[in-house]
Amino acid sequence: MLARFEEMGFDLSQFVPALLRPPSQTFRINTLKGSREQVLKSLSLLEPEPVGWNDLVFRIKDRQKLGNLLEHFLGLIYAQDASSTIPVTVLDPQPDEEILDMAAAPGSKATQIAAAMANTGLLVANDVSPKRIPSLTANLDRSGVLNTVVTRLPGQAYGHIAAERFDRVLIDAPCSSEGTLSRSFRALEIWSKSAIKRLSATQRNLIMSAYYSLKPGGVMVYSTCTFAPEENEGTVSHLLDKFPDAIVEPTDLEGLNSQPGFSEWRGEEFNPAVKNILRLFPHEHDGEGFCVARISKPN
Ligand SMILES: C[S@@+](CC[C@H](N)C(=O)[O-])C[C@H]1O[C@@H](n2cnc3c(N)ncnc32)[C@H](O)[C@@H]1O
Repeated sequence: MLARFEEMGFDLSQFVPALLRPPSQTFRINTLKGSREQVLKSLSLLEPEPVGWNDLVFRIKDRQKLGNLLEHFLGLIYAQDASSTIPVTVLDPQPDEEILDMAAAPGSKATQIAAAMANTGLLVANDVSPKRIPSLTANLDRSGVLNTVVTRLPGQAYGHIAAERFDRVLIDAPCSSEGTLSRSFRALEIWSKSAIKRLSATQRNLIMSAYYSLKPGGVMVYSTCTFAPEENEGTVSHLLDKFPDAIVEPTDLEGLNSQPGFSEWRGEEFNPAVKNILRLFPHEHDGEGFCVARISKPN
């Protein structure tokens, strides 16, 4: 892993300590349960500071376990890493739309989508894993979500069963999770070069299925919590090879320190449009490592 990071051009003396240092704790206010003012008043002792790019996401200095707070139990807040709130911020869900969250468990982003939709329209929160569905439904319940149906299908099915159905789609893809090492070393247990190869094959199928399931004029976001170019630029380039008219949109979030997508990896030149992918690095941004691409389908 370290040799690959070096090959990606990271200075390991800065990158590795930052990757292993836990970022500040952050939470998102769940407006389905309370107003921003009400929740900030209730948590004023923690002195929450806004992250800047999303009015509802705040950092705290304390190492207080947010998941133990009454506000969390009541669904007024969702404890979530800052980076993990970015894909839905970039997706920008709207009330009354039909939206698919293709790999939704345990629901950090599905609950964020439902709140942005103000519990209107329809959210389909899907995940293939029977083991992870209970945490998804528990988080939807705790957050007061009412506009959502939960399905347990391979995301690959949606391109066929719901072709051109959705206004927006989120694919928060299964990935090698290199960006999450400050939270747990679990990623090291599954990480291998062959895992990256296997995951990138799944991701290519998921991104194609998501694109098929999108209405003309629709928008999707592809995100991972890993640095591997095969799983980020490689996956998005694959979509662009098959659908050259798909548009990878530039995204600019206020106060967010990010890098553009890589232009090549190990001799493979990516589609130039992948430079619009947002890459978040732990030595530059107070959050886990993440990659986010916003892709639209022409009318
Ligand atoms: C990064 S996690 C999703 C996290 C979730 N979006 C959140 O924010 O709470 C990736 C998820 O993909 C699911 N998954 C793996 N393969 C899948 C497939 N073929 N179709 C749908 N979901 C899949 C896993 O079970 C896992 O829950």
